[in-house]
Amino acid sequence: MKSQKVGIGLLGMGTVGGGVASLLQINEESIQEKAGAELQLKKILVRDSAKSRRVELPAALFTSEATDILENPEIDLIVELMGGVEPAREYLEKALKSGKYVVTANKDLMARYGTDLLELARQSGGAIFFEGSVGGGIPLVRPLKHCLAANRIDRIMGIINGTTNYILSRMSLEGIEFQDALLEAQEKGFAEADSSNDLEGWDAAYKLVVLSRLAFGCSAGMEDVYVRGINNVTAQDLMHAEKLGYTIKLLAVGERVDGFISLRVFPALLPLKHPLASVYNEFNALFVEGNAVGEVMFYGKGAGAMPTASAVVSDIIDASRCLSYKIEDGLMEVPLKDIPVISGEKMVSSFYLRLQAEDRPGVFASLANAFGDEDVSLDMILQDRSEKGIAEIVLVTHDVREANYFRALQNIKEMPSIRQINGVFRVFGKNKESL
Ligand SMILES: NC(=O)c1ccc[n+]([C@@H]2O[C@H](COP(=O)([O-])OP(=O)(O)OC[C@H]3O[C@@H](n4cnc5c(N)ncnc54)[C@H](OP(=O)(O)O)[C@@H]3O)[C@@H](O)[C@H]2O)c1
Repeated sequence: MKSQKVGIGLLGMGTVGGGVASLLQINEESIQEKAGAELQLKKILVRDSAKSRRVELPAALFTSEATDILENPEIDLIVELMGGVEPAREYLEKALKSGKYVVTANKDLMARYGTDLLELARQSGGAIFFEGSVGGGIPLVRPLKHCLAANRIDRIMGIINGTTNYILSRMSLEGIEFQDALLEAQEKGFAEADSSNDLEGWDAAYKLVVLSRLAFGCSAGMEDVYVRGINNVTAQDLMHAEKLGYTIKLLAVGERVDGFISLRVFPALLPLKHPLASVYNEFNALFVEGNAVGEVMFYGKGAGAMPTASAVVSDIIDASRCLSYKIEDGLMEVPLKDIPVISGEKMVSSFYLRLQAEDRPGVFASLANAFGDEDVSLDMILQDRSEKGIAEIVLVTHDVREANYFRALQNIKEMPSIRQINGVFRVFGKNKESL
């Protein structure tokens, strides 16, 4: 028996909470050894304490009263696995104010209130650990904070939402449409009944905000992220992308651009030879580019009960060590800088455009002119098929200033020969020697 004891209160016993309770049981001995303390689960907050749970635990542990945990003097460490912003924020604020240590896997909360909570922890002598909030089981927080601390990080880029990656993988591998892939993802538990946060790119944006603070030390918030989801990606676009040597992925990209920061989440064409192109299904991966280390890639399961529990329990072990040995949390918080966010119009990208146009002489020329007028040059052109006098045309540009591209696109939309604009996506990594 360890001489030190750490009392733990869990807020939430759903998917991740169940994984955490089960991992604490499965690896009990080694976890306690590594923590250097006896970890005692004292109370678990849930909405419905009568509900049956996946993990066998004494009924007396469950409560639906937050004060049973927040005001419990036997609890040193609070592990928040409820999700959502409120009341999680309120509870963690109370916990930190009373000097308790906190572990959370809540990306929404960390993206919106992470800087306030970290500051509160610093002032009150508490600490907040959040490895599980980004990348599920993939270690990202500690590597960015510690192992890569010597670098100036210039770019982080990755696939950080498993639901959308599963859907795009199925669409690309099976040629099925978005709605069918979504249904399959829901049946297999890779998408929630209401997946709008994932599909619209918000989940990836929350994670990008958390990661960008670690990578760039910037104080960016959700309002600084350009967010586009995958709802408009069709099997047809994936088929064309493949013909051109690409696939389509929902990318989260944070980068330094001329003294500014750019934070964007968008579906993009990615060369098939790029390592991120072969990240399939529920898997996630993040590329980090540092000025000393070069390119580093992290890969693994970005969600799920046990992968996320792996990150959360590691935080519990770290927090318990800090509590038992009365050492600082060691998570090396540095003050965040106010680095300005670049206006999207100044960004330079290559674009893919799929449209339906009248199949008659002069249409290609007018398209080329509309682009030429805005200094947009074309790299690839595909005419797929022509039915009833309407042709499907795919155009890929060279790198262009985004403001110019969107002005040209507006003019094209107004041309009488253009019947429909079907898809507009950025093309990533086309001209890059490295990844
Ligand atoms: N699921 C994943 O793969 C994953 C991956 C990475 C990070 N995360 C993050 O981990 C957190 C938990 O996710 P999850 O999927 O485990 O959620 P979940 O399955 O919905 O579980 C939420 C738990 O919190 C309890 N709860 C929620 N609101 C409450 C309230 N107001 N008062 C008391 N109890 C409340 C629920 O109680 P009842 O059981 O009684 O309803 C449930 O036990 C979220 O922040 C999520 O973003 C999840």
